[in-house]
Amino acid sequence: MNDAQTIAVEVIGIEQVTPLIKHFKLAALAGGNLPVFSGGSHIIVVMQGADRVHRNPYSLLSSPRYLDTYEIGVRRMEESRGGSHFMHDTVHIGSRLEIAHPVNLFGLDKIARKHVLIAGGIGITPFLAQLEDLHGGGVPYELHYSVRSSEHAAFLERLRGREGERLHMYYDSEGQLIPFEALLATQPLGTHVYVCGPAGMINHVITTAQAGGWPDSHIHWEQFSAPPVGDAFEVFLARSKISVHVPPDQSLLESIEAAGVEVPYLCRGGVCGFCHTQVLELDGELVHNDHFLSEADKAKAKSIMPCVSRAHCKRLVLDL
Ligand code: FES
Repeated sequence: MNDAQTIAVEVIGIEQVTPLIKHFKLAALAGGNLPVFSGGSHIIVVMQGADRVHRNPYSLLSSPRYLDTYEIGVRRMEESRGGSHFMHDTVHIGSRLEIAHPVNLFGLDKIARKHVLIAGGIGITPFLAQLEDLHGGGVPYELHYSVRSSEHAAFLERLRGREGERLHMYYDSEGQLIPFEALLATQPLGTHVYVCGPAGMINHVITTAQAGGWPDSHIHWEQFSAPPVGDAFEVFLARSKISVHVPPDQSLLESIEAAGVEVPYLCRGGVCGFCHTQVLELDGELVHNDHFLSEADKAKAKSIMPCVSRAHCKRLVLDL
């Protein structure tokens, strides 16, 4: 994917829905409908900052049935390298942005007999669109939504009005925890579980389900890592024959793109595998932050996912 395939959109609505989350509505600048998508899809939003371009993935939370607008929720990240701050502080109604076509890496399984959805905080966003797909269908489902406190419960009115007793709320401030073991132990055969939220929650759901004998094909999760900051390092791109400096607050992928070299991507969050790049030489160690490579592949240090991973090294040569 590259920016030639993006769609120009205008921000037509912004609402602060919790102290940390803003809800944005986007419409095609050219008018008409935006591309078709299914629940669980994300888009990449391309933001032209003062000194660099940010490209961040956000789940679509609007109904897949209505394509005149796309809706996303953006949480202000404390450790942001700029993207979430740009959306919160710079984008206003009337702002123009570029977005990539939707991609679904977190779709509902079509042959599931039941769906159990587990959300933590901003992790509610992909489920809002999935619920539009599930609502009125014949497959039973339930949603378990955990938040810090009531003021952090984004989109709760929308959920309460529509989901009724299928919605189960848990407030950390009141000591309420999702009973993962009991929840997963009592589901009928053929149930699929989906989790989106903090890494600790995702890992806990995956390990609990696996320990309970759930097949891997019935466990679905989504977590786009924001590219972490780190030490600066240099990389040499062997096929392009250029050296690229990667500053502490810019990802390897962003630095390569800024140098004019295109790398394929879909998620920019360490999940999809599209940016997989061969490491030709390394004098030091790689800092793998992705969820794509196996532990064995990470240990081999022969490949890297430049959207989120970095290096501590004197010399890194990539096959680009
Ligand atoms: S773009 Fe998806 S893993 Fe890097």
